[in-house]
Amino acid sequence: MHPSAPALRRAAQQLFVDVVRAAVARKGCAVVALSGGSLADALSGLASSTAVDWPRVHLFLADERCVPLDHPDCNASALRAAFLDAAGAPPGTLRALPAAAAAGPPAAAAEAYEAELAALPPSALPRDAEGLPVFDLVLLGLGPDGHTASLFPNRPQLAPSRRAYLPVSDSPKPPAARVTLSLSALNAAACVAFVASSAAKAEVVQRALEVQALPGALPAQSVRPAGELLWLLDAEAASALRSGQWGDRSKWPRSDIPPPPA
Ligand code: 6PG
Repeated sequence: MHPSAPALRRAAQQLFVDVVRAAVARKGCAVVALSGGSLADALSGLASSTAVDWPRVHLFLADERCVPLDHPDCNASALRAAFLDAAGAPPGTLRALPAAAAAGPPAAAAEAYEAELAALPPSALPRDAEGLPVFDLVLLGLGPDGHTASLFPNRPQLAPSRRAYLPVSDSPKPPAARVTLSLSALNAAACVAFVASSAAKAEVVQRALEVQALPGALPAQSVRPAGELLWLLDAEAASALRSGQWGDRSKWPRSDIPPPPA
């Protein structure tokens, strides 16, 4: 938990730098998936960072809207505007949805993006036993309904999948047409970090971390990666948590079902 939104942003940027540098040292490149929304702004400080070897970074979107690349809703364009262009990252650093598919049907866009990912050799992007890509880092946002990427509550995209990218045609968060990393792909990652800031996220953060939801009801709660899971929160977003009680059996599970006898 970080004392302020600027401190949280610095922590998210530092995590990005640390994971990318370690991956580049280990295998010559880093493959990272970034969400849309406020994450672009949270990472804007990377514009002035000299610590990232951008030509060795492959950035994908954790989810993307099926809109033209110049559309205001395009996550790729938001990341370019927020820091990639200013950082001098080569155009190939960010793998946007292939232009021919970007504004088309989500199913075709998901296929095209999956092919883009598949073009990376295992030496750059290892695959797990299910054939799913093992991203070095996935940075995720958190929506008020517990959605993350474009995985929304009780939707079919939450089912186990061997696909990395899935189509979404009915996103409750506009625009409706999107592609998203599957929950299976998120859970194959080496490191997944949620980045949540402000009091507006306090309630959903508390639900995600302290309330046992029915499977599918809170997609963020189903993100249980094979690797590391981090929650980067500022004080406001963490304000409803009672982490001091997390080890106290008499207080958990936090429900009116009596705890089991000691
Ligand atoms: C998207 C995002 C989405 C976002 C959450 C949180 O493309 O819409 O990936 O999943 O991360 O809705 O958005 P904020 O961080 O802007 O609140």
